Amino acid sequence: MNNQDIINEVRRKNDIVDIIGEKIPLEKRGKNYFGVCPFHDDTNPSMSVSREKQIYTCFSCHATGNVFNFLMNYEHKDFSQVLTDLATRVGITLNGIKTKKISTKYNDWYNIYDIANKFYQNNLMSKEGSRAREYLKKRSIDEDTIKEFEIGYSLKDHDSLTKLLQKKGYSLDLLNKVGISVNDYDIYHLRLMFPLHDLSGKVIGFSGRIITDSKQNKYLNTKETDLFKKGQLLYHYHIAKEAARIDKSVIIMEGFMDIIRASTIDVKNTVATMGTALTHDHIKNIKRLSNNIILCFDGDEAGVKATLAAGEMFAKENLEVKVISLNNNDDPDTYILKNGKEAFLNLIENAIYFSDYKIKTLSQGRNLTSSEDKANYIHEVLEEAAKITDPIRTEIILKELAKKFEIGYNTLEKSFQELKATKTKKQEVVIEKKTASKGKKDKYQKASFCIIYYMLNEQDIIESVEREHLVFPTEALRALESEIVYFYHKYGFINEADFYTYLTPKIELVNLLAEIMQLQLKSKVTSKELLDYFNVIKEYNEKMSITKLEEKIKNTNDPLEQIKYAEQIRKLRIGEK
Ligand code: CTP
Ligand code: MN
Repeated sequence: MNNQDIINEVRRKNDIVDIIGEKIPLEKRGKNYFGVCPFHDDTNPSMSVSREKQIYTCFSCHATGNVFNFLMNYEHKDFSQVLTDLATRVGITLNGIKTKKISTKYNDWYNIYDIANKFYQNNLMSKEGSRAREYLKKRSIDEDTIKEFEIGYSLKDHDSLTKLLQKKGYSLDLLNKVGISVNDYDIYHLRLMFPLHDLSGKVIGFSGRIITDSKQNKYLNTKETDLFKKGQLLYHYHIAKEAARIDKSVIIMEGFMDIIRASTIDVKNTVATMGTALTHDHIKNIKRLSNNIILCFDGDEAGVKATLAAGEMFAKENLEVKVISLNNNDDPDTYILKNGKEAFLNLIENAIYFSDYKIKTLSQGRNLTSSEDKANYIHEVLEEAAKITDPIRTEIILKELAKKFEIGYNTLEKSFQELKATKTKKQEVVIEKKTASKGKKDKYQKASFCIIYYMLNEQDIIESVEREHLVFPTEALRALESEIVYFYHKYGFINEADFYTYLTPKIELVNLLAEIMQLQLKSKVTSKELLDYFNVIKEYNEKMSITKLEEKIKNTNDPLEQIKYAEQIRKLRIGEK
């Protein structure tokens, strides 16, 4: 058996209904099973799972694929991990399949970080760790929490970790490269050690905190490496994945201690950046956890600024986040310590929408005495309110404004409606431009979609497409068609589920295929219908050939050549070869 055969066998032996059914409740309706889609925020059963096709499809967010794709997205694992899991489940050995091309490159790195992680944790429990243990006790971090967050301690001496790792066969060169040593010394001394995990939970670096009031940097992080990028890391993400699914929300905080403290009161759907501003990478990954996002930054001025910046970034991605705002001298850590679990759960419950938060901050520190100041402020608030889609919320805001500044509600309402009208106009122009450029499909694309849809259902159609030398109208469609043909010839069969596995590395093609397979076409196509689709594409191909010939005529000065091309055009037009 070759690799693809084994992979297909693993897929076939792991029935998609069973696997997905273990993760989310499925209910049988007709031929298919339905459940609440875990890939977007929803309460309706919009995901269908087909035992027959071994495919899942969400009619709402358009997530789709086979059992591998489902687990890759659901468990945030890469293909090789999922393949290994599923093979183990059904007792297939994967000997010889090279699935871990990328990870073997970094296996040594992961081993080094694992050894270092254990080393630091042991130190904390040793005699030398007593001062660090005292520090943790003073901060009310108990044994369970220390274990859960794998907190450790780095020693006073120069090089005990470096020596240990060298003894285990790792070169100084590598130890320097991965950020554990500098020359032949350990990098970390006398710091509390927090391992940093990547999205899938592998340790890829450390952050070390001082435990005295010395003037050194409070935290010392592993330098930027191939694996560790400070602007991408989200602390606690690998744990938050599961928790966010259960709680249907995710809370973003600023620091480690905030996350750790929240965990002690069983709030585990939390992630933190490493004190940096949110990046697009962060946002992309956070959005994978939940659409219900709550910001809970420090209460100081920097925290307010960070909240405003983060809220705007999410708004640009059409997501209105919620905000918990703390008092000036609190962060989530100190708040929870002082007020306890119920109080913090209450804050979560009462988190306010970002636009309301922004309106609140607009008035802060402002002296609204002159009529000009007041008018400016009111206009700013109206601007914000115009972004809100819920009419009940906007009405509340307008009523409050009217009361606060003793203006007639109708006056306010009128300028609000005017503002909204100009905004909608601007938006319409943008939407029109967008749909004109890509949204609508022309008849050639529609015909191509139908043909490709049926190529995956009936293998004869693949052969007809080849025989007719159809050329599809876009680069992506042509690529997809040639992948189908390639797959079919290589394996002698094709079905949607196995083809998804094969396509998986080419994400644009997977998306295109998903779009096509979601057309609700009837299952059998008549030869008359197929002929019509073919003719549409042929018409397109002729049009393109004619355009090319016309170009050639334009580009040559030789009259004989021109006559030759004109004759070819004429023949194409009357349908001769
Ligand atoms: N940070 C950092 N380097 C520093 C200071 C902070 O990398 N010199 C990062 C850390 O990841 C930290 C986050 O910024 O978790 C937020 O900083 P801060 O609020 O000061 O840290 P806390 O997590 O609150 O830690 P502590 O309560 O122990 O001061
Ligand atoms: Mn803090």
